[in-house]
Amino acid sequence: MKYTFDVALLPSENLKKHNCRLVIDLLRASTQITTFFDCGGSILLPVTETDEAFELQETLGNEWKLMGERGGMKPKGFDFGNSPLELQQNGAPQQAVITTSNGTSAILRAAENCAEVRIVCARNAEAVCWDAICSGTEIGILAAGRNGEFSMEDVVCAGMLVEKLLALAPKNGASEMELTDGAIAAMSLWQSLGPDLTAIAMESEHGRILQGLGFTNDIFFCTEIDMTAVVPQLSFTQGIPAIIAH
Ligand code: MLT
Repeated sequence: MKYTFDVALLPSENLKKHNCRLVIDLLRASTQITTFFDCGGSILLPVTETDEAFELQETLGNEWKLMGERGGMKPKGFDFGNSPLELQQNGAPQQAVITTSNGTSAILRAAENCAEVRIVCARNAEAVCWDAICSGTEIGILAAGRNGEFSMEDVVCAGMLVEKLLALAPKNGASEMELTDGAIAAMSLWQSLGPDLTAIAMESEHGRILQGLGFTNDIFFCTEIDMTAVVPQLSFTQGIPAIIAH
């Protein structure tokens, strides 16, 4: 059996054909989503705009909480921000609508022409990689980036994921594995800059912004590797994109 591993460095790239896609937004959307399920949350509805989140809450009812960020901070009228540490400390709601500056739109982009979409971060890296290996042979990792620009921490983490996929695939019967240029580039970055993901994230542009906003501890939390086996996945209920976990 042959596996192909690909990394798209930005959501705006022409995406190759994949039968499973992993979306990484290390700081902090994919970590927030993973932590939501780790803390007992059941379902998240990802949307692109804050207005959509308010509209969805009005349709579905107030038991749906609003979660996310703009400029790193909780938008006015929202119940939760996008700090996974705060979520862990305060407890997760059962159901929420989530919108973040880059992560939620990257997740929706990943769903174009691909039925199997997973949300991955450092904390659930190994679990999601194994799930992907069992779900498809053409696996694409989509780095969320920031405001349309390359994010070093996302791509370095994607490189770590490629390394994990290469190690895991033979255990599921891979006899051949091929890397695209994007995957080779991401893995090279991980191998040359890693393995101190915390230092990389602290130095990154987004990391420096989060430190300025007082979220330094979030960066430590987001860069812990293989802490949970939660695998968030995108599904569609009555045409509405929803994230559930297994
Ligand atoms: C994003 O989607 O861009 C991030 O999650 C932003 C953040 O939490 O700081």
